[in-house]
Amino acid sequence: MDPQDVKTNIVLILDFGSQYTHLITRRIRALNVFSLCINGTSSLKSIADLNPLAIILSGGPHSVHAIDAPCFPSGFMEYVESNKLPVLGICYGLQLIVQKTGGEVRVGEKQEYGRMEIEVEKACGLFGNKKVGDRQSVWMSHGDEAVKLPEGFEVVARSKQGSVAAVENREKRLYGLQYHPEVTHSPEGMETLRYFLFDICGVTAGWKMEDVLEEELKIIKETVGPDDHVICGLSGGVDSTVAATLVHKAIGDRLHCAFVDNGLLRFKERARVMETFEKDLHLPVTCIDATEQFLSKLKGVTEPEKKRKIIGNEFICIFDAFAHDLEKKLQRKPLYLVQGTLYPDVIESCPPPGSGRTHSHTIKSHHNVGGLPKDMKLKLIEPLKLLFKDEVRELGRIMGVPVSFLKRHPFPGPGLAVRVPGDVTEGNRLDILRKADDIFIQAIKDAGIYDSIWQAFAVFMPVLTVGVQGDQRTHSYAIALRAVTSHDGMTADWYYFDHKFLADLSTRICNEVQGVNRVLLDITSKPPATIEWE
Ligand code: XMP
Repeated sequence: MDPQDVKTNIVLILDFGSQYTHLITRRIRALNVFSLCINGTSSLKSIADLNPLAIILSGGPHSVHAIDAPCFPSGFMEYVESNKLPVLGICYGLQLIVQKTGGEVRVGEKQEYGRMEIEVEKACGLFGNKKVGDRQSVWMSHGDEAVKLPEGFEVVARSKQGSVAAVENREKRLYGLQYHPEVTHSPEGMETLRYFLFDICGVTAGWKMEDVLEEELKIIKETVGPDDHVICGLSGGVDSTVAATLVHKAIGDRLHCAFVDNGLLRFKERARVMETFEKDLHLPVTCIDATEQFLSKLKGVTEPEKKRKIIGNEFICIFDAFAHDLEKKLQRKPLYLVQGTLYPDVIESCPPPGSGRTHSHTIKSHHNVGGLPKDMKLKLIEPLKLLFKDEVRELGRIMGVPVSFLKRHPFPGPGLAVRVPGDVTEGNRLDILRKADDIFIQAIKDAGIYDSIWQAFAVFMPVLTVGVQGDQRTHSYAIALRAVTSHDGMTADWYYFDHKFLADLSTRICNEVQGVNRVLLDITSKPPATIEWE
């Protein structure tokens, strides 16, 4: 699904780099209105091509006076005025409207950060039935402030400090909030967004996952010709599984999936995943056993990045061979490749200067199963490109993907190789890790806390320590347990387990996993650590 395919009922968000921009998109979609976010400096044509019903200008970390301050394209204000499009500026977005339409923005005398009270100064559609003098708590985060409003604008709310908190130009349908209605620290913010969308803009709610499913099926059927074939690498994760299920629904067995057992999978992972593919999803999947191929290449390799690169390259070779075999069998080249790319991976946003907001692949090379050689010239089908993770789960749910599968913790492409620091092939490290990991995950499930944890796993410690088991001296390995909470994997906190739970777990792992006499708990957040150990 491309933005251009969704021409109706879009609320468009122009992103100026706020850390909350994607939250605005989420909030609006939660109100059953389709919303898209594009770079705030996009061309007027790309904005107009989306034919939005309303536009929201996001916040951002810049000052409107900065030389490199991002701005909407020239002609934007004329475009919204001539089309009578309602616009809501949030924080920096409000300041842009004010500055670009003849008002004045200055560095505020008192900068406002954190929770503030604002007071309604004039009844306004943004506040529903609220009367003059009514107060609400909001989340502010700004240095600059509007000190002179352009002609036609009025202040409709002020902060306790007397700064402009909300403005409107009712005639031109231009609105602005100095605070962030999209964050939960503004408890009435969602109501304000609701009033803006439904009362001011007259948008009708109706966007739902069933429609997305219908739309996607239609697009895939139109894109893939009646005799064309499509391939897909399944990792056993939610995204590739949902994407493949969707394409399979549209084109049936002209979809060819491959699942690679690289010898780095979890306990009984291959059997569990293949069973779901076959029994629950009826997906045609070729299981490729490449254990030897991967492990022989990893023998003696200890450097984490080198391990990751080797694994990535092997995946590419295997898929290359898969595509060639298929071509021989079908007597025609597969033309398309399905990938489970999600919206957060493709959003074109403005990272704030100095924010250090980069994708984590600058820290580690991430390898997903879908990485194929460029010379295969496959065209991409990315049906989840406009969806967030929980929306993908919902789409999976309505297509019959088992909920237990959809809620699985993320598992990295390089598998257990990044959970065994050093040489993964030495001794029976992988087997020890698999057993300990299985006990850990099962205990978490039994305790009913699996869904409260973003990711949990065991790590093999390549360190021999002395212990005593059954009156015998042991010289065995240690296992570290890692469990984190997170929203997106970019930052994470370690999970607080009950002490009794940990004590029982430690006993069980030492008793049941031969070769282990010590259990450690990783109590590091991200940063400074990463979630995986390598
Ligand atoms: P880190 O370790 O960078 O991980 O804090 C953040 C999230 O990404 C997952 N991860 C990967 N996922 N291929 C993947 O598909 C990879 O190479 C990879 N490396 C890390 C990790 O499990 C966590 O959820």
